[in-house]
Amino acid sequence: MVLQVVKFRHHFRQRFSPLSNFLVCKFTTSPPPPPPPPSSPPSSGHFITTPIFYVNAQPHIGHLYTSVVADTYHRYRKLQRPTEGEGGLPPIFSTGTDEHGMKIEKAAKKEGLPDGKTILHCDKVSKSFRDMTQQFSIDCTDFVRTTEPRHFKAVSHFWEKLHDQGHIYKSEYQGWYSIADEAFIPESNLIEKVDGKGGTIKVSEESGHPVEWTKEENYIFKLTKFLPDVSHWIKTCNPIKPEKFADILLRWIDEGFEDLSVSRPKSRLSWGIPVPKDDTQVIYVWLDALVNYLTVAGYPDKLNQWPPTLQVVGKDIIKFHGIYWPAFLMAAGLEPPKEILCHSHWTIDGKKMSKSLGNVVDPFELGKTYGTDGLRYFLLREGTPQSDANFTEEKMRRMLNAELADTFGNLLSRCSGKLVNPGQKWPDWDHQNFPDALGQHGTALKESLESLPDKVETSYNEFIFYRGLEHIMTTIRLANLYVEDTKPWALAKTAPSDPVLLSMLSLVFETLRITSILTFPVMPNLSSSVLDRLNVAPTERNWASLKNFIWEKQEASDRSLGPVHNVLYKRIRL
Ligand code: MSP
Repeated sequence: MVLQVVKFRHHFRQRFSPLSNFLVCKFTTSPPPPPPPPSSPPSSGHFITTPIFYVNAQPHIGHLYTSVVADTYHRYRKLQRPTEGEGGLPPIFSTGTDEHGMKIEKAAKKEGLPDGKTILHCDKVSKSFRDMTQQFSIDCTDFVRTTEPRHFKAVSHFWEKLHDQGHIYKSEYQGWYSIADEAFIPESNLIEKVDGKGGTIKVSEESGHPVEWTKEENYIFKLTKFLPDVSHWIKTCNPIKPEKFADILLRWIDEGFEDLSVSRPKSRLSWGIPVPKDDTQVIYVWLDALVNYLTVAGYPDKLNQWPPTLQVVGKDIIKFHGIYWPAFLMAAGLEPPKEILCHSHWTIDGKKMSKSLGNVVDPFELGKTYGTDGLRYFLLREGTPQSDANFTEEKMRRMLNAELADTFGNLLSRCSGKLVNPGQKWPDWDHQNFPDALGQHGTALKESLESLPDKVETSYNEFIFYRGLEHIMTTIRLANLYVEDTKPWALAKTAPSDPVLLSMLSLVFETLRITSILTFPVMPNLSSSVLDRLNVAPTERNWASLKNFIWEKQEASDRSLGPVHNVLYKRIRL
């Protein structure tokens, strides 16, 4: 056992030490990667995570956004690799709730719960997050709570590992602590603010939250020792997306960090996991929370998969995920994540949504009016990883009416209605007559469809979902132009067998098939209902089927439409 650890440390230093020129992440395509370290399992399925949500307040659309970004990528990966994990390691997609710490304890007290009953508050709010996950079709494979015994076990074990290997020491620690951020804030990141009583208070420049001077005996993690390795990992493995956040992390590292306090005296913080073998101290909530990603992988028993392939986080928590987390993992001898996607925030009138500002937007209410897939679509169509997006209901209403009702839904109803399509058929491709019958608009649409899957794939691979959706909408708009030009409602009466009409119906249904598979990761329910109406078999709802274009098929097949549906997306009126 001892020998294994020593060997592993050696291997690990080789992989991550800046002094080494042997780097596993350089070899993503060829030559083949070196054998995994002894304690790592093979990593076959993907492993995607969302941050776990604080239970001090109810879910808002910012939380939903993080979840939808992760879910969309997870669903996209499953479309691309439907058999991934079969007979091996199934994909993991985890989410959950972060339930320890002072601010949770305070929230429970504010609700009138006595000491010892904080868990009742956690149960209630955690359930709201679970409800959000279910109602908005977040297809997670695990929902972890930091108050679960399996997590307690993982955190205690992880702590002992860091401690036993000499990466944690006990010392007096003093500094400015922000309860809202659950972090010590360096003096250089503080500003003075008028407190409303004629005086001033110190607040964190980044979050605006007040800090209080704290002097206490703590356990300290030797963060500074790992910073060169973290910096090296960021520079050579390129895990942080978009790159602007990698630059920010590297700048922070250059500016310098101190070693990190990783416990609080129990007298100050009782709602947490006790430090093993020293129950006068409680483990720092961020160390506790980050270990959730190990908990869902099965730690400390045999890991089902490691490392995570994609971790989605908001920009406010990139320091914890891009610096502390890889440092903790390296110290414990575990590989850091392959990719971290950092997204920007939703604002209201230019201000970050937050409970303290009282400007939070409730996803459940919006879901009732705009549909849960409608809200998912808007969040990804308007939100970007690069910069903040401002939320207004008016903008959302206009966009959903224009794109889902008037463009996507309209295309389906125009070609599947009984007037235009009394036989309820998707005409087979007539190789002899259709090419000439397509006309200018039909030919342009066909060309657009041929290149669409690749364009969307590129955008989704870069997590630029709005651009993928933009390409899809452009193609659907072309299809609507084509329908208007062809006037099927007139042809259906006068010349129902005319190749101009039949080729148009065939091509438009093909457009709907392709665009529904492409939008499926973003709005799984609406896209599925289009695919049901088109009678597309479940086995053909995947990425590989996208390019089985109907005009390349040689054999005829029975193509009856599926059962009639309600209108795909009803216009929202004020
Ligand atoms: N509990 C920590 C995360 C621990 S992960 C080991 C936490 N929780 S949180 O509830 O405050 O935030 C969870 C996620 O929601 C973060 O990714 C955060 O960026 C995101 N959002 C919170 N407000 C947001 C917006 N206004 N806009 C977009 N995302 C936002 O941090």
